[in-house]
Amino acid sequence: MMSSPMVLSLLLFVSLTALLLLAPRLSPPPPPVAAGDQEEVPAAGVGVGGAGSGGPWGVGVGEEADDLALFRRATLDAGAGAAVSAAPSKVAFLFLTNSDLTFGPLWERFFAGHEGRFSVYVHADPAAQLLLPPTPSFRGRFVAAKPTRRADPSLIAAERRLLAAALLDDAANVYFALLSQHCVPLQSFARLYGALFPPRAAHHHRLPSYIEVLTGEPQMPSRYVARGEDAMLPEVPYDRFRIGSQFFTLARRHAALVVGERRLWRKFRVPCLPEMQQDSCYPEEHYFPTLLDMADSAGVARYTLTRVNWTGSVAGHPHTYTAPEVSPRLIAQLRASNHTHPYMFARKFAPDCLGPLLAIADTVLFKD
Ligand SMILES: *[C@@H]1O[C@H](CO)[C@@H](O)[C@H](O)[C@H]1NC(C)=O
Ligand SMILES: *[C@@H]1O[C@H](CO)[C@@H](O)[C@H](O)[C@H]1NC(C)=O
Repeated sequence: MMSSPMVLSLLLFVSLTALLLLAPRLSPPPPPVAAGDQEEVPAAGVGVGGAGSGGPWGVGVGEEADDLALFRRATLDAGAGAAVSAAPSKVAFLFLTNSDLTFGPLWERFFAGHEGRFSVYVHADPAAQLLLPPTPSFRGRFVAAKPTRRADPSLIAAERRLLAAALLDDAANVYFALLSQHCVPLQSFARLYGALFPPRAAHHHRLPSYIEVLTGEPQMPSRYVARGEDAMLPEVPYDRFRIGSQFFTLARRHAALVVGERRLWRKFRVPCLPEMQQDSCYPEEHYFPTLLDMADSAGVARYTLTRVNWTGSVAGHPHTYTAPEVSPRLIAQLRASNHTHPYMFARKFAPDCLGPLLAIADTVLFKD
């Protein structure tokens, strides 16, 4: 039997929850954004094994109640992961996509024989109508997703959603590698794993995050004022504002920090001014490096494991490799870095590269 105070609190809880759930629906939909070329920037919605997917007002900046509940649960749960050391550490591969995962077969080859040491999560655009499931490791690994667009904080929201889902799903997930459908592996799984978990590093709480953190880049002043002259103040003064590649590999404590964070997210989720959207609006390239540099400067490598070629970039898109360019020599060039670790992943690769990459998978890509 329930006592009446309990019934009362239950009622209160239910009505508050209803309010929270309804609230976003009551506000008008956001104005349309100049979407630009979306191909790189993934999207949303196949809610498999998770909460409901996005509502029709969509392109939300993702502070809706279901997201908030997810982030809260992930934050509360995150501590547990640090304590669990018995299970072998896993690398969580977070795929952000709005098209078919063409390189699924290549990733399967990369994963083969390493079961128990990796997890896969996919945030996919409901509009993409993926041909699912692509391959065994991806089957059933789709998290609740919402639409995303370029020049819009919905990409940050999607990345936070992926991190939260992976944090909650498995306490053994120690690293979280963000990838897109255009990313390919450059090394064997064993080599990646050996680099992330060097034998001497017994203490997981000190593992670094691999994220690019740059300052003083020429585009910084206009990126900083993308939401208005003083819009980032007081939380983010210009000299703390950072830029870095969207693609990172975060350590668990940093993934948890991102998911639980509200202060900077409240700033970065503000849409850019219309006149800034074309050239200066890339919130996802700023939120993560700015936040992590502020929160734990010494804990980040300031280097990303994902190689990208910006030479001759067009409209904010890096060079996209096509089949004729794939060769052992290219792989060697893409691996080379100035950091202790070589590059582990690369982008962007066009779908027609799958065949040529599979052809050199055993002899070059995954040969240790
Ligand atoms: C980078 O892209 C340019 C074309 O935009 C190409 O000429 C160059 O070879 C590429 N670099 C590497 C390392 O692949
Ligand atoms: C390594 O550093 C040199 C000198 O700064 C630079 O020219 C080169 O492009 C860098 N290589 C990579 C892969 O970043």
